This record gives sequence, C-alpha cells and structure tokens, in this order.
Amino acid sequence: MNPSAHIGVTGLAVMGRNLARNLARHGYTVAVHNRTPARTTSLLAEFGHEGTFVAADSAKAMVAALQRPRRLIVMVQAGRPTDDVIAEYAPLLDPGDVVVDGGNAHFADTRRREAALRERGIHFLGTGISGGEEGALNGPSIMPGGSPEAYRLLAPALTDIAGITPDGTPAVAHLGADGAGHFVKMVHNGIEYADMQLIAEAYHLLRHATGWEPARIAEVFRQWNTGRLNSYLVEVTAEVLAHHDADTGLPFVDVIADAAEQKGTGRWTVQTALDLGVPVSGIAEAVFARSLSGHSALRAAGTALPGPAPTILDERDAARLTEQVEQALYASKVISYAQGLHQIQAAGDAYGWNVDLAAVAGVWRAGCIIRAAFLDRVRDAYTAGPGLPSLLADPGFAHEVGDAQLPWRLVVSRATRDGVPVPAFAAALAHYDTLRTPRLPAALTQAQRDYFGAHTYRRTDRPGSYHIRWDTDRTEEAAL
Ligand code: 6PG
Repeated sequence: MNPSAHIGVTGLAVMGRNLARNLARHGYTVAVHNRTPARTTSLLAEFGHEGTFVAADSAKAMVAALQRPRRLIVMVQAGRPTDDVIAEYAPLLDPGDVVVDGGNAHFADTRRREAALRERGIHFLGTGISGGEEGALNGPSIMPGGSPEAYRLLAPALTDIAGITPDGTPAVAHLGADGAGHFVKMVHNGIEYADMQLIAEAYHLLRHATGWEPARIAEVFRQWNTGRLNSYLVEVTAEVLAHHDADTGLPFVDVIADAAEQKGTGRWTVQTALDLGVPVSGIAEAVFARSLSGHSALRAAGTALPGPAPTILDERDAARLTEQVEQALYASKVISYAQGLHQIQAAGDAYGWNVDLAAVAGVWRAGCIIRAAFLDRVRDAYTAGPGLPSLLADPGFAHEVGDAQLPWRLVVSRATRDGVPVPAFAAALAHYDTLRTPRLPAALTQAQRDYFGAHTYRRTDRPGSYHIRWDTDRTEEAAL
C-alpha cells in the first residue's frame, strides 16, 4: 500500500478521536489506530464523512500508512500506557520520523522518552494539549516541547488545528526542548486549580454573607465576565451556578457531593515547585483544599468545632462586598498566574529551556481551560520586559494589584471573622505582603537554626557566614 496519510493518531478515546477529526477537517489524511479496533471502526462510521481517514488495525499498518518523515501522535493515558505504545512503535519507525505525545505526561517522563528516541534518530515532541474534548475538536491550546527540527515537522498541522486567539494568531508555539511543553501544560493545570479555588472561595463567601441563591450569584459572575475577570472559568461558573437539577429542581451546585477530585497535574505542579524552590502558594492551597474536602472523617470531627454565628448583609452592604470580592478575586488571580509563570521561568533556567513567557501567555489566550482576557496584557508585559522577575514587576499589574489591596484585605478579614475558609485568597495576599516587606522574620529563623543546629547565618553588614558559640557568645566565621 502506498503510504497516503500525512499524520497518524494512535489512541482514539475522546481526546484522540477529536484531535483526529480536527486534523481531517483541515484536509489532512489521517491514519487512525486504537488498541480496541471497535473505536477505530466507530470513528470512521460516525465521522468518516468529515475528511480522509485511513484505518490501521495494527502499529505496523499505521507505520505503513504514513508518508515519510512519519508523524505519529500518541493519545493514550500518561505513564506506563504511553511507554508501552512508544515501545511498540519505536522499532517500526525510521530516523527522521517524529512521535508526538499529546497526553498529560509528567515532564520528567518526556525528557526521558525524548532522550531514548533521540538515540534512534527519532524526534519526540512532548505536547500539552488543553481544552478538553471540545478544544481538541475545535481548537485547543497546544504547548509543544522538543527539538526545533521536531517542531518544524509538526508546525503546519498544529498551527492549522490550534485555537485562534483574539488577534487571530494560532494558540501554539514551540516552547523549548524536551520536557518544556509538558512542563508548561502541567503549570497550566496548576493555575487552573488555583483559578477554580479562588472562584469557589468568592462564590462561597458571597453566598455565606448575603444568603443569595446560586442563580443570583451566577448573575454576579456573568457581570464580572464582562470586565477584567473575563475568562472561560468565570463563564463556566455562571452557567453552573444558574443551573437547576432536573431531578429535584434544586440548585445544581447544591446536589453535588462537596469532595473535589483531582487527576494529579496540580499535585505535580506543587511537588515540582517545591523541588525548584519556587513558592506557588495559591496553587498549593488549591490542591490542599481539594484534598481536605475529601477527608470525610476529619470534616465530620470538625463539625463540632465552635465558630462565629453567620451574619447576613443587607442589600447595600452585599453590593459593597460584591465589589470588594471582584477586586480580591482579580488580585489573587494575578498572584497565582505570577507564581505559575515564575515556576516556568525557574524550570527553564534549571533545564536550559529558555522558555519565552510571552509565548506561554500567548498560547493560553485561546482553547485552554485558563484562557482569559487579561492574558493579552500578561503577554504584552513579558514582551515589553522579557526578563521580568515577576508579573508583579510589570508597572501595570503592580498598579492594579496595589489598587485592589484594601478591598482584598477587607474580604480576607471579613471571611476570617465570619469563619468562611479562604485559603487561596489569604495565601495570595500573604505572598503579596511578603514581597512588599523590606525585613522578613526569616532573620529570626536563621538565628534559631544557628542556635539549635549551628547551621550558620549571614549578616547584613559584612560578607561571610557566621556561627555564634551560644554558650560563650563568641562569634566564629564559618569556613565557606
Ligand atoms: C485541560 C484540562 C485537563 C485536565 C482536566 C481534569 O487543560 O484540558 O486541564 O488536562 O486533566 O481538567 O483535571 P483534574 O482532574 O486534575 O482536575
């Protein structure tokens, strides 16, 4: 059989199937394969009319169907399944071919896989694909990492199928070598967790303080979505809060079990940040909030703990609180994105990826779960200042967040006084205040460490490391 397919997709669960359809709709001849042949058959039966598909009933048939250099997209579960598929295909491919991993792989696995395939002369593109099944079909945000050569081979197809940003550019860019793409996708998911947690805290505080029904709060989010908080997640929140359960007629959000689950990419983000020494407190609080919500025994024991009696605001004060919460939500959101982008920058330094944060913000403007209007300005900030140490070093964002600090503080203090948990709001505010503080109590920490562990300390008035002999008060300069 003459190889006729421009590109192949193996793994036809929802994401893989929709990605194959997206490619076919853009005129590519797409070879498709799935370990369970029924999925291949059903794809062609249901969507064969959308373009040109070539059904492959084995890895061998897939490889035979692909024009060289072969372009194969692997869309299977992260971890061992991805390794198994690569192990099956690698011996069948030739030098110069390229394998794309479009799953939510851990970046360390991607680095390992890229190095192993490079030994065979096969390119590997670890590619974060965000936007869920709808995004995969109609235009995801695509975050590829790998060699320039590997990206060059895929760029036309990825550009054709990516989401389109507000200024008409495709939501795809080569983000760096080996694991850079999957790292950026991982942090995207971490920021997604923080975004969702902040929205949840805003909703919870408003409901607790005003007694409003979810549908009323949905209107608040709809209003916010017309301003600087415009984003996919705020839009989704308005939809969800306005929805009523078909079975009971109750607000949909009131019939859902309040234990949040997580597949793990947010957890990876925090684990990786700890290793890099980068504070991502907003993301961490979001991960812990999900975990704590699932600790039913802990929560059952906690119901007996005393707390403040709820107070319901009158309409005037409720309107004022709503404005304050908008400010707190926006400021906390900026902090969470700043922390995530700092983590990407630190990883780029650690792994030699030299990631362009303007490009990262650029591809997050369409297709992905955290797409948001303010990302245009985030991209502009890093375009104007590629070496920005933090998003908060951008004058525009520093001014906006600074302007929000009083309402932000009022929101955190009201929530604290009313016994409403706002871990992500509070963590973001603490991060902001830590950055502002000229002298931190870390000096005391150093003294304590030297006292009990002789771990030495540095001074403000002269270079070097020192240790005090606390028994004789004699200071020794520590050998460097
Ligand atoms: C995306 C999403 C996706 C994520 C799901 C569930 O970018 O399309 O982030 O990758 O896996 O949203 O994630 P959790 O189960 O971790 O919430």
